[in-house]
Amino acid sequence: MGQAEGKGRDFSPGAATAVCGVVLHPAGHTRSPAMHNAAFRFLGIDAVYVAFDVPPEELGRALAGARALGLRQLAVSLPHKVAVMEHLDEVDATARAIGAVNTVTREGDRLIGSNTDWLGAVRALEQETGLEGARAVVLGAGGSARAVVWGLRERGASVTVLNRSVDKAEALARELDAAGAGPLSALAATPHDVLVNTTSVGLRSDASPVAAGAISPDATVLDAVYDPRDTRLLQDARARGARTVAGKWMLVHQAAAQLERWTGHAAPVDVMADAFDD
Ligand SMILES: NC(=O)c1ccc[n+]([C@@H]2O[C@H](COP(=O)([O-])OP(=O)(O)OC[C@H]3O[C@@H](n4cnc5c(N)ncnc54)[C@H](OP(=O)(O)O)[C@@H]3O)[C@@H](O)[C@H]2O)c1
Repeated sequence: MGQAEGKGRDFSPGAATAVCGVVLHPAGHTRSPAMHNAAFRFLGIDAVYVAFDVPPEELGRALAGARALGLRQLAVSLPHKVAVMEHLDEVDATARAIGAVNTVTREGDRLIGSNTDWLGAVRALEQETGLEGARAVVLGAGGSARAVVWGLRERGASVTVLNRSVDKAEALARELDAAGAGPLSALAATPHDVLVNTTSVGLRSDASPVAAGAISPDATVLDAVYDPRDTRLLQDARARGARTVAGKWMLVHQAAAQLERWTGHAAPVDVMADAFDD
């Protein structure tokens, strides 16, 4: 039995089984319950984690229900990450800067919103490379781009945002203090130590958002897209000689950060990653 395994045993002694979960719509095949329940088992925490399929018009009632039932932590997934904010008692400064909440934690009788998506991305990248002073390019300017750009800036990287709609890239770059913005085709002319795809290009397809030849062989490349596990972009990056990080790791690390926030325990990242694969 590992140290962390024993350490979790006395968590919430005498209390009823804690209930946590994720609100999303449609529920699809989310891997969050598998990851969190595996971590609870490993840490000896008396808790269960379930998926709640909540359509947008029911979000307010769902949050009121979570309050009444005393849910301990709720993850918030698409399409609720922005709308959930009006139902909370407090949103922390990071989530306000990113403009989205993916974690609701109960503190006393208050529901506090925070964001771990940015930590998921930076910890996934930090498996392979340092970020302080790195020249990063983020492809995309949607919801996940905001979290990734904020995280890279927080870690001291300079960031260029490239997107199909250049006006959105420019607006995001201005708001989150990125160094520049442009079209996806500008990658070849933009030196990069780190490349993160946050566009949905490659999702359940064999497409890539950029030409293979535009990827620097010296870069570390993270693709937020995790279905398929090994995207065209990651295959192209490997063929160029670049290091790659699969989108699964961004998901695993954002879940690990949620668990740490609620329980105070170091998350068993490998256990959660194995559960993601099961
Ligand atoms: N691994 C993880 O933990 C994680 C977390 C969050 C999201 N994701 C994944 O990240 C992806 C994006 O999610 P999101 O919430 O940021 O989506 P979003 O807010 O809808 O943004 C979509 C982005 O993709 C771009 N895009 C869409 N179709 C395109 C096309 N045909 N060609 C070029 N660009 C295109 C959009 O460009 P325009 O602005 O020009 O429309 C926009 O920048 C999804 O695949 C999602 O599954 C992964």
